[in-house]
Order: sequence, then structure tokens, then C-alpha cells
Amino acid sequence: MISDWIKPHELLFNNLKPKIVLEFGLGEGSEFFLKNCQKLISVEPYTTNQELIDTLHLPDLRWANLFKQVFSHYNNWIVVPYECKEAILKADKEAQRGDKMQDPISQEYKKEIQDLVDKICEEYHPDYAFVDHGLHLRGDFVNALFGRVKAIGAHDTNTKGSYGYHRVVSPADYIKEEYPNGEGTTFWIRNDISKS
Ligand SMILES: C[S@@+](CC[C@H](N)C(=O)[O-])C[C@H]1O[C@@H](n2cnc3c(N)ncnc32)[C@H](O)[C@@H]1O
Repeated sequence: MISDWIKPHELLFNNLKPKIVLEFGLGEGSEFFLKNCQKLISVEPYTTNQELIDTLHLPDLRWANLFKQVFSHYNNWIVVPYECKEAILKADKEAQRGDKMQDPISQEYKKEIQDLVDKICEEYHPDYAFVDHGLHLRGDFVNALFGRVKAIGAHDTNTKGSYGYHRVVSPADYIKEEYPNGEGTTFWIRNDISKS
């Protein structure tokens, strides 16, 4: 449910007041950011591989195109569709290989994620980044954002295994805040920001 992450974000945004927000995975909830920041960059990872869309429920481009229309009246919004390369697709497939979600076997996907995060952060310098996309590698996106963004959030963190959140390794200079209501929202906030 979207609404379960809005309340924790209202509390966070009261203190942080981010100007530039980056989200991975767009949807109805994007409107909260559109109304509460100067610029929203929404990266939507997708694939055109129909077999993976059908069997593994990986996202295609229709979702991004739908919401681009819904929120087309906002002029503070940049949508960045990202076509996943082989490394991410392979890792997501591997994560879904058993009855329960597992760690990917291959490791190349971490570089693909880091390259994407670095490119976006170098271009837009976000103050806050939120991870809530359709891949099952969300924890790896959080890891890639450490050191690049001073405040990071993620959704559906109650079921850590489903999205790889158990792989998050929080550096010593970030404080973790957990809001378990609904599907769970977690923030990792750099020490100096958290204290100010
Ligand atoms: C659940 S949405 C949440 C995005 C946003 N943070 C929000 O709360 O509205 C996360 C991702 O799931 C995928 N997704 C969710 N529902 C979908 C649907 N009905 N059809 C296609 N993709 C969907 C999209 O790739 C999207 O980026």
C-alpha cells in the first residue's frame, strides 16, 4: 500500500527538506514527492524481454508510460526509464530461482547498479533517494547509494528477503531508522544530517 510510506516521509521531509529527490520505481506515490520537492527524478528499471516479464514479473515500460501521462501536468519531474542489461536480468532471475527468494549467484549486477546510481547522482546530485522499484535487488540499490546520497529510504523492508534488503551493509556514518507500519519503511540517514 502506498500510504504506509507517506507518513514516515512527512516526518523525514519536515527535517530534511530535500530539494532534489531521486526515486527508483515510480507510481501513484510519486505525487507525494512532486508536491514536496523542487525536482523529482524517477528512474524506472524495465526490460523488453517478454519471457522475463511473463514468468518473473519483471517490469516493462507500460507502467512508466502510464504514470508519465497521469502526472504530465507537473513540470518539476524527470522520468528516466532504464533498460536493464544482462547482468541485472540474470541476477533477478537467480534471486527467484527457488521457492523463496535467494541471493543472486552472479555478482556482475552490482557493477551495473553502481554505474547507474553513479551516473544519476553525478548528473542530479539528489538530497534524498527512495528505493521502491519492481526488481528484487532493492537492497543492492541501497548499498550503491551509500556515500552518494545523504539520506536514503526504502519500502517493503519488513520482508527483508523478498527484495534483498538483508544484503544492506550500512556504513558507520549512517543511522538506520525503521518504521514497521504497513509493509515497512526504512531510512538510512548520514550522522551529520540526522543530528542537525
Ligand atoms: C509498487 S510500485 C511503487 C512505486 C511508488 N514508490 C509508489 O509507491 O507509488 C513499484 C514498481 O512496481 C512495478 N509495478 C507495480 N505495479 C505494477 C503493475 N500493476 N503493473 C506493472 N508494474 C507494476 C513498477 O515497475 C513500479 O516501479
